[in-house]
Amino acid sequence: MSATTIRNARLVTMSGPAGVRRGAALASLGVLERGWVVLEHGRIHSLGEGEPPAPMGEVIDARERALLPALVDSHTHLLHAGSRDEEWAQKWAGTPYLEIVRRGGGILSTVRAVRETPDEMLDHLLERRLLRCTRLGTGAIEVKTGYGLDVPHEMRMLESILRVAASADRPVVPTFLGGHAIDPDQPNLTDEMIEDGLPRLATRLPGAAVDAFCEEGAWSLEECRRYLEKAKSLGLALRLHADEFHVLGGVELAVELGALSVDHLEASGEAQLSTLASSQTVGVMLPCCGFALDGRYANARRFVDLGGALVLASNANPGSAPSLSLAFSIALAVRFMGLSVAEAIGASIWNSACLLGLSREVGSIEPGKRADLMLLDGTESSLAFDVAGPGPARVWIAGVEAPWRRERT
Ligand code: NIG
Repeated sequence: MSATTIRNARLVTMSGPAGVRRGAALASLGVLERGWVVLEHGRIHSLGEGEPPAPMGEVIDARERALLPALVDSHTHLLHAGSRDEEWAQKWAGTPYLEIVRRGGGILSTVRAVRETPDEMLDHLLERRLLRCTRLGTGAIEVKTGYGLDVPHEMRMLESILRVAASADRPVVPTFLGGHAIDPDQPNLTDEMIEDGLPRLATRLPGAAVDAFCEEGAWSLEECRRYLEKAKSLGLALRLHADEFHVLGGVELAVELGALSVDHLEASGEAQLSTLASSQTVGVMLPCCGFALDGRYANARRFVDLGGALVLASNANPGSAPSLSLAFSIALAVRFMGLSVAEAIGASIWNSACLLGLSREVGSIEPGKRADLMLLDGTESSLAFDVAGPGPARVWIAGVEAPWRRERT
Protein backbone atom coordinates (compact mmCIF):
# COMPACT_ATOMS: atom_id res chain seq x y z
CA MET A 1 0.00 0.00 0.00
CA SER A 2 1.45 3.37 -0.96
CA ALA A 3 2.12 6.09 1.53
CA THR A 4 0.52 9.54 1.71
CA THR A 5 1.85 12.75 3.19
CA ILE A 6 -0.55 15.52 4.15
CA ARG A 7 1.18 18.83 4.80
CA ASN A 8 0.19 22.38 5.64
CA ALA A 9 -2.75 21.20 7.77
CA ARG A 10 -4.30 22.57 10.91
CA LEU A 11 -3.72 19.24 12.63
CA VAL A 12 -6.35 18.49 15.26
CA THR A 13 -4.59 15.54 16.86
CA MET A 14 -6.97 15.08 19.82
CA SER A 15 -3.95 14.02 21.85
CA GLY A 16 -4.43 14.70 25.54
CA PRO A 17 -5.09 12.83 28.76
CA ALA A 18 -5.60 9.06 28.49
CA GLY A 19 -9.04 7.63 29.22
CA VAL A 20 -12.41 9.26 28.98
CA ARG A 21 -12.15 13.06 29.33
CA ARG A 22 -14.22 15.14 31.72
CA GLY A 23 -14.42 18.84 32.52
CA ALA A 24 -11.86 21.06 30.82
CA ALA A 25 -10.03 18.02 29.41
CA LEU A 26 -13.02 17.27 27.17
CA ALA A 27 -12.05 20.25 25.04
CA SER A 28 -8.39 19.28 24.60
CA LEU A 29 -7.94 19.07 20.86
CA GLY A 30 -4.13 19.01 20.69
CA VAL A 31 -3.93 21.37 17.71
CA LEU A 32 -0.71 21.76 15.69
CA GLU A 33 -1.28 24.99 13.78
CA ARG A 34 0.77 24.05 10.72
CA GLY A 35 1.21 20.34 10.86
CA TRP A 36 1.97 17.35 8.67
CA VAL A 37 1.23 13.67 8.89
CA VAL A 38 2.52 10.66 6.98
CA LEU A 39 0.24 7.65 6.49
CA GLU A 40 1.65 4.24 5.63
CA HIS A 41 0.18 0.73 5.60
CA GLY A 42 -3.12 2.06 6.86
CA ARG A 43 -1.59 3.62 9.97
CA ILE A 44 -0.21 6.94 11.11
CA HIS A 45 3.51 6.67 10.43
CA SER A 46 4.63 10.03 11.82
CA LEU A 47 3.50 13.60 12.33
CA GLY A 48 4.88 16.95 13.33
CA GLU A 49 4.84 20.71 12.96
CA GLY A 50 6.34 22.75 10.10
CA GLU A 51 7.39 20.94 6.90
CA PRO A 52 7.64 17.13 6.80
CA PRO A 53 11.35 16.22 6.92
CA ALA A 54 10.85 13.07 4.85
CA PRO A 55 7.60 13.15 2.86
CA MET A 56 6.48 9.75 1.59
CA GLY A 57 4.20 8.86 -1.31
CA GLU A 58 1.64 11.32 -2.67
CA VAL A 59 2.01 14.72 -1.04
CA ILE A 60 -1.26 16.60 -0.40
CA ASP A 61 -1.41 20.29 0.50
CA ALA A 62 -4.20 20.72 3.06
CA ARG A 63 -4.10 24.48 2.51
CA GLU A 64 -4.30 25.20 6.26
CA ARG A 65 -7.62 23.48 6.66
CA ALA A 66 -8.35 21.20 9.61
CA LEU A 67 -7.36 17.55 9.51
CA LEU A 68 -9.00 15.48 12.25
CA PRO A 69 -9.40 11.85 13.24
CA ALA A 70 -12.58 10.42 11.70
CA LEU A 71 -15.68 10.68 13.86
CA VAL A 72 -16.46 7.67 16.07
CA ASP A 73 -20.17 6.90 16.25
CA SER A 74 -20.89 4.91 19.41
CA HIS A 75 -24.70 4.57 19.24
CA THR A 76 -26.42 3.55 16.01
CA HIS A 77 -29.29 1.34 14.89
CA LEU A 78 -27.77 1.19 11.42
CA LEU A 79 -29.05 -2.28 10.57
CA HIS A 80 -32.71 -1.97 9.70
CA ALA A 81 -35.01 -2.72 6.78
CA GLY A 82 -38.38 -1.62 5.42
CA SER A 83 -39.77 1.88 5.45
CA ARG A 84 -41.43 4.02 8.10
CA ASP A 85 -42.10 6.96 5.79
CA GLU A 86 -45.81 6.80 6.59
CA GLU A 87 -45.04 7.13 10.31
CA TRP A 88 -42.98 10.24 9.69
CA ALA A 89 -46.03 11.81 8.08
CA GLN A 90 -47.97 10.98 11.27
CA LYS A 91 -45.23 12.45 13.47
CA TRP A 92 -45.11 15.64 11.44
CA ALA A 93 -48.88 15.86 11.86
CA GLY A 94 -48.40 15.77 15.64
CA THR A 95 -48.67 12.11 16.70
CA PRO A 96 -46.08 11.43 19.42
CA TYR A 97 -43.42 8.73 18.96
CA LEU A 98 -44.71 6.63 21.88
CA GLU A 99 -48.29 6.80 20.56
CA ILE A 100 -47.13 5.24 17.29
CA VAL A 101 -45.43 2.52 19.34
CA ARG A 102 -48.70 1.94 21.25
CA ARG A 103 -50.54 1.45 17.95
CA GLY A 104 -48.17 -1.39 17.04
CA GLY A 105 -45.96 0.67 14.73
CA GLY A 106 -42.55 2.16 15.46
CA ILE A 107 -39.90 -0.38 16.39
CA LEU A 108 -42.37 -3.25 15.79
CA SER A 109 -42.86 -2.12 12.23
CA THR A 110 -39.11 -2.37 11.55
CA VAL A 111 -39.07 -5.74 13.36
CA ARG A 112 -41.60 -7.11 10.88
CA ALA A 113 -39.53 -5.83 7.95
CA VAL A 114 -36.23 -7.17 9.27
CA ARG A 115 -37.70 -10.62 9.82
CA GLU A 116 -38.82 -10.73 6.18
CA THR A 117 -35.48 -9.54 4.80
CA PRO A 118 -33.00 -12.20 3.60
CA ASP A 119 -29.53 -12.29 5.18
CA GLU A 120 -27.70 -11.06 2.08
CA MET A 121 -29.99 -8.05 1.85
CA LEU A 122 -29.44 -7.21 5.53
CA ASP A 123 -25.68 -7.34 4.96
CA HIS A 124 -26.01 -5.23 1.84
CA LEU A 125 -28.10 -2.57 3.61
CA LEU A 126 -25.55 -2.28 6.39
CA GLU A 127 -22.59 -2.13 4.01
CA ARG A 128 -24.28 0.56 1.96
CA ARG A 129 -24.93 2.67 5.07
CA LEU A 130 -21.32 2.30 6.19
CA LEU A 131 -20.25 3.80 2.87
CA ARG A 132 -22.58 6.72 3.44
CA CYS A 133 -21.09 7.16 6.92
CA THR A 134 -17.65 7.43 5.33
CA ARG A 135 -18.89 10.30 3.20
CA LEU A 136 -19.99 12.06 6.39
CA GLY A 137 -16.63 11.58 8.10
CA THR A 138 -17.51 8.64 10.35
CA GLY A 139 -14.99 5.84 10.72
CA ALA A 140 -15.30 3.38 13.61
CA ILE A 141 -18.90 2.70 14.50
CA GLU A 142 -21.17 0.77 16.84
CA VAL A 143 -24.20 -1.07 15.40
CA LYS A 144 -27.02 -2.47 17.52
CA THR A 145 -29.30 -5.42 16.93
CA GLY A 146 -32.81 -4.75 18.32
CA TYR A 147 -35.13 -5.26 15.37
CA GLY A 148 -35.24 -9.07 15.69
CA LEU A 149 -37.20 -9.06 18.96
CA ASP A 150 -36.95 -12.78 19.55
CA VAL A 151 -33.85 -14.80 20.25
CA PRO A 152 -33.39 -16.35 16.77
CA HIS A 153 -33.87 -13.05 14.95
CA GLU A 154 -31.70 -11.06 17.36
CA MET A 155 -28.95 -13.63 16.81
CA ARG A 156 -29.53 -13.34 13.06
CA MET A 157 -29.03 -9.58 13.25
CA LEU A 158 -25.91 -10.12 15.31
CA GLU A 159 -24.51 -12.51 12.71
CA SER A 160 -25.19 -9.99 9.97
CA ILE A 161 -23.29 -7.29 11.87
CA LEU A 162 -20.42 -9.71 12.50
CA ARG A 163 -20.23 -10.72 8.83
CA VAL A 164 -20.12 -7.08 7.73
CA ALA A 165 -17.61 -6.26 10.47
CA ALA A 166 -15.33 -9.07 9.32
CA SER A 167 -14.92 -7.53 5.88
CA ALA A 168 -15.30 -3.86 6.83
CA ASP A 169 -12.51 -1.33 6.36
CA ARG A 170 -13.03 -0.03 9.92
CA PRO A 171 -13.90 -1.28 13.42
CA VAL A 172 -17.61 -2.16 13.58
CA VAL A 173 -18.65 -2.90 17.17
CA PRO A 174 -21.87 -4.89 17.69
CA THR A 175 -24.22 -4.35 20.64
CA PHE A 176 -26.94 -6.91 21.47
CA LEU A 177 -30.12 -4.85 21.97
CA GLY A 178 -32.27 -7.75 23.13
CA GLY A 179 -34.61 -5.52 25.14
CA HIS A 180 -35.68 -2.98 22.55
CA ALA A 181 -39.47 -3.32 22.65
CA ILE A 182 -42.31 -5.44 23.92
CA ASP A 183 -44.50 -7.51 21.64
CA PRO A 184 -48.10 -8.32 22.66
CA ASP A 185 -47.83 -11.57 20.69
CA GLN A 186 -44.79 -12.77 22.69
CA PRO A 187 -45.71 -12.77 26.40
CA ASN A 188 -42.54 -14.72 27.30
CA LEU A 189 -40.16 -12.50 25.38
CA THR A 190 -38.36 -11.06 28.42
CA ASP A 191 -37.78 -14.46 30.01
CA GLU A 192 -36.59 -15.96 26.72
CA MET A 193 -34.21 -13.12 26.08
CA ILE A 194 -32.77 -13.43 29.60
CA GLU A 195 -32.67 -17.23 29.90
CA ASP A 196 -31.79 -18.14 26.32
CA GLY A 197 -30.64 -15.03 24.40
CA LEU A 198 -28.03 -13.76 26.86
CA PRO A 199 -26.28 -17.13 27.36
CA ARG A 200 -26.19 -17.61 23.59
CA LEU A 201 -24.65 -14.18 23.19
CA ALA A 202 -22.08 -14.84 25.93
CA THR A 203 -21.01 -18.00 24.12
CA ARG A 204 -20.92 -16.44 20.66
CA LEU A 205 -19.26 -13.17 21.66
CA PRO A 206 -17.82 -13.24 25.19
CA GLY A 207 -17.70 -9.82 26.81
CA ALA A 208 -19.97 -8.18 24.20
CA ALA A 209 -22.22 -5.32 25.24
CA VAL A 210 -25.97 -5.69 25.76
CA ASP A 211 -28.55 -2.95 25.69
CA ALA A 212 -32.25 -2.40 26.51
CA PHE A 213 -34.80 0.40 26.17
CA CYS A 214 -36.09 1.32 29.64
CA GLU A 215 -39.26 3.27 28.86
CA GLU A 216 -43.02 3.29 29.23
CA GLY A 217 -44.34 0.99 26.51
CA ALA A 218 -40.92 -0.68 26.19
CA TRP A 219 -39.01 -2.59 28.90
CA SER A 220 -39.90 -1.81 32.52
CA LEU A 221 -37.27 -1.00 35.11
CA GLU A 222 -37.79 -4.42 36.67
CA GLU A 223 -37.34 -6.21 33.35
CA CYS A 224 -34.20 -4.18 32.65
CA ARG A 225 -32.83 -5.07 36.08
CA ARG A 226 -33.31 -8.81 35.53
CA TYR A 227 -31.84 -8.59 32.02
CA LEU A 228 -28.81 -6.50 33.00
CA GLU A 229 -28.09 -8.52 36.17
CA LYS A 230 -28.12 -11.72 34.16
CA ALA A 231 -25.90 -10.16 31.48
CA LYS A 232 -23.46 -8.99 34.12
CA SER A 233 -23.33 -12.46 35.69
CA LEU A 234 -22.36 -13.80 32.24
CA GLY A 235 -19.48 -11.34 31.90
CA LEU A 236 -21.25 -9.17 29.34
CA ALA A 237 -20.90 -5.38 29.30
CA LEU A 238 -23.98 -3.23 29.92
CA ARG A 239 -25.52 -0.27 28.17
CA LEU A 240 -29.03 1.13 28.64
CA HIS A 241 -31.41 3.47 26.80
CA ALA A 242 -32.90 5.50 29.67
CA ASP A 243 -34.74 8.75 30.38
CA GLU A 244 -35.66 9.31 26.75
CA PHE A 245 -39.27 10.29 27.49
CA HIS A 246 -39.85 9.29 31.13
CA VAL A 247 -37.61 9.03 34.17
CA LEU A 248 -38.12 5.44 35.37
CA GLY A 249 -34.91 4.87 37.34
CA GLY A 250 -32.81 3.53 34.48
CA VAL A 251 -29.89 5.87 35.18
CA GLU A 252 -29.67 4.77 38.82
CA LEU A 253 -29.94 1.09 37.78
CA ALA A 254 -27.19 1.42 35.18
CA VAL A 255 -24.88 3.20 37.60
CA GLU A 256 -25.57 0.63 40.33
CA LEU A 257 -24.64 -2.21 37.97
CA GLY A 258 -21.54 -0.48 36.60
CA ALA A 259 -22.84 -0.08 33.04
CA LEU A 260 -20.55 1.26 30.35
CA SER A 261 -23.11 3.89 29.36
CA VAL A 262 -26.59 5.29 29.75
CA ASP A 263 -27.89 6.66 26.47
CA HIS A 264 -30.50 9.37 25.73
CA LEU A 265 -31.09 11.35 29.00
CA GLU A 266 -33.44 13.90 27.39
CA ALA A 267 -35.81 13.67 30.36
CA SER A 268 -33.10 13.48 33.04
CA GLY A 269 -33.19 16.08 35.77
CA GLU A 270 -30.53 17.29 38.18
CA ALA A 271 -30.70 14.13 40.30
CA GLN A 272 -30.10 11.76 37.38
CA LEU A 273 -27.39 13.91 35.80
CA SER A 274 -25.49 14.26 39.03
CA THR A 275 -25.76 10.54 39.88
CA LEU A 276 -24.41 9.73 36.44
CA ALA A 277 -21.74 12.44 36.48
CA SER A 278 -20.26 11.15 39.70
CA SER A 279 -20.05 7.56 38.42
CA GLN A 280 -17.77 5.73 35.97
CA THR A 281 -20.72 5.28 33.58
CA VAL A 282 -20.61 7.41 30.45
CA GLY A 283 -23.60 9.57 29.43
CA VAL A 284 -24.37 9.27 25.72
CA MET A 285 -26.50 12.11 24.37
CA LEU A 286 -28.29 11.88 21.03
CA PRO A 287 -29.42 15.31 19.87
CA CYS A 288 -30.85 14.14 16.56
CA CYS A 289 -33.83 12.76 18.55
CA GLY A 290 -34.70 16.20 19.85
CA PHE A 291 -34.36 17.64 16.38
CA ALA A 292 -36.50 14.98 14.72
CA LEU A 293 -39.15 14.32 17.38
CA ASP A 294 -39.99 17.06 19.83
CA GLY A 295 -37.29 19.68 20.42
CA ARG A 296 -36.22 18.20 23.77
CA TYR A 297 -32.45 17.97 24.23
CA ALA A 298 -30.46 16.42 27.06
CA ASN A 299 -28.71 18.95 29.29
CA ALA A 300 -25.15 18.36 28.14
CA ARG A 301 -23.88 21.66 29.58
CA ARG A 302 -25.01 20.78 33.09
CA PHE A 303 -23.72 17.22 32.77
CA VAL A 304 -20.24 18.37 31.74
CA ASP A 305 -20.21 21.02 34.46
CA LEU A 306 -21.09 18.34 37.00
CA GLY A 307 -17.98 16.43 35.84
CA GLY A 308 -19.80 13.85 33.73
CA ALA A 309 -18.15 11.75 31.02
CA LEU A 310 -20.00 12.81 27.89
CA VAL A 311 -20.31 11.15 24.50
CA LEU A 312 -22.34 12.38 21.53
CA ALA A 313 -23.65 9.93 18.97
CA SER A 314 -25.89 10.00 15.91
CA ASN A 315 -28.42 7.36 17.09
CA ALA A 316 -29.03 6.79 13.36
CA ASN A 317 -32.32 4.88 13.12
CA PRO A 318 -35.53 4.99 11.09
CA GLY A 319 -37.82 6.05 13.95
CA SER A 320 -36.29 8.81 16.04
CA ALA A 321 -33.03 9.92 14.45
CA PRO A 322 -33.13 9.77 10.65
CA SER A 323 -29.58 10.94 10.02
CA LEU A 324 -26.29 9.10 9.67
CA SER A 325 -24.41 12.33 10.29
CA LEU A 326 -22.58 12.64 13.58
CA ALA A 327 -21.41 16.06 12.41
CA PHE A 328 -25.06 17.09 12.43
CA SER A 329 -25.28 15.97 16.07
CA ILE A 330 -22.24 18.13 16.82
CA ALA A 331 -23.99 21.09 15.19
CA LEU A 332 -27.14 20.47 17.25
CA ALA A 333 -25.19 20.03 20.47
CA VAL A 334 -23.48 23.38 19.97
CA ARG A 335 -26.79 25.14 19.23
CA PHE A 336 -29.14 23.48 21.70
CA MET A 337 -27.13 21.71 24.40
CA GLY A 338 -24.74 24.45 25.45
CA LEU A 339 -21.51 22.76 24.37
CA SER A 340 -18.53 24.52 22.85
CA VAL A 341 -17.37 23.23 19.48
CA ALA A 342 -14.27 21.74 21.11
CA GLU A 343 -16.34 19.91 23.75
CA ALA A 344 -18.69 18.52 21.13
CA ILE A 345 -15.74 17.28 19.06
CA GLY A 346 -14.10 15.71 22.11
CA ALA A 347 -17.36 13.91 22.88
CA SER A 348 -17.71 12.63 19.30
CA ILE A 349 -14.17 11.46 18.63
CA TRP A 350 -12.03 10.79 21.69
CA ASN A 351 -14.64 9.95 24.35
CA SER A 352 -16.63 7.82 21.93
CA ALA A 353 -13.48 5.89 21.03
CA CYS A 354 -12.97 5.26 24.77
CA LEU A 355 -16.57 4.10 25.22
CA LEU A 356 -16.16 1.54 22.42
CA GLY A 357 -12.84 0.34 23.86
CA LEU A 358 -11.05 1.57 20.73
CA SER A 359 -8.93 4.43 22.03
CA ARG A 360 -5.69 2.59 21.22
CA GLU A 361 -6.77 2.32 17.60
CA VAL A 362 -8.77 5.44 16.76
CA GLY A 363 -9.82 8.77 18.26
CA SER A 364 -6.55 10.66 17.90
CA ILE A 365 -3.79 11.22 15.36
CA GLU A 366 -0.80 9.49 16.89
CA PRO A 367 1.92 7.24 15.43
CA GLY A 368 0.78 3.64 15.13
CA LYS A 369 -2.94 4.39 15.18
CA ARG A 370 -5.32 3.69 12.31
CA ALA A 371 -5.17 6.30 9.57
CA ASP A 372 -8.90 7.16 9.74
CA LEU A 373 -8.92 10.88 8.98
CA MET A 374 -11.08 13.65 7.60
CA LEU A 375 -10.00 16.88 5.96
CA LEU A 376 -12.58 19.62 6.46
CA ASP A 377 -13.20 22.65 4.28
CA GLY A 378 -12.29 25.08 7.05
CA THR A 379 -11.28 24.89 10.68
CA GLU A 380 -12.72 22.29 13.04
CA SER A 381 -15.51 24.77 13.81
CA SER A 382 -16.89 24.11 10.34
CA LEU A 383 -18.05 20.73 11.69
CA ALA A 384 -20.58 22.64 13.78
CA PHE A 385 -21.31 25.49 11.36
CA ASP A 386 -21.64 23.56 8.13
CA VAL A 387 -25.14 22.30 8.93
CA ALA A 388 -26.40 19.78 6.36
CA GLY A 389 -23.28 20.43 4.33
CA PRO A 390 -21.82 17.87 1.96
CA GLY A 391 -19.41 16.45 4.56
CA PRO A 392 -15.63 16.62 4.70
CA ALA A 393 -13.59 17.55 1.65
CA ARG A 394 -11.64 14.28 1.83
CA VAL A 395 -11.75 11.18 4.02
CA TRP A 396 -9.25 8.37 4.56
CA ILE A 397 -10.21 5.07 6.17
CA ALA A 398 -7.24 2.85 7.04
CA GLY A 399 -5.08 5.18 4.96
CA VAL A 400 -7.17 4.65 1.83
CA GLU A 401 -8.85 7.71 0.47
CA ALA A 402 -12.59 7.33 -0.03
CA PRO A 403 -13.25 6.89 -3.76
CA TRP A 404 -15.07 10.21 -4.05
CA ARG A 405 -13.81 13.60 -3.14
CA ARG A 406 -14.98 17.12 -3.60
CA GLU A 407 -11.83 18.72 -4.86
CA ARG A 408 -9.00 18.17 -7.30
CA THR A 409 -6.11 19.12 -5.07
O1 NIG B 1 -32.68 5.18 20.50
N1 NIG B 1 -35.38 4.49 21.78
C1 NIG B 1 -35.20 3.41 21.30
N2 NIG B 1 -34.50 3.14 20.18
C2 NIG B 1 -34.26 4.12 19.19
C3 NIG B 1 -35.44 4.30 18.28
C4 NIG B 1 -35.57 3.12 17.37
C5 NIG B 1 -36.73 3.17 16.42
O2 NIG B 1 -37.70 3.92 16.60
O3 NIG B 1 -36.64 2.39 15.46
C6 NIG B 1 -33.73 5.36 19.86
O4 NIG B 1 -34.27 6.44 19.77
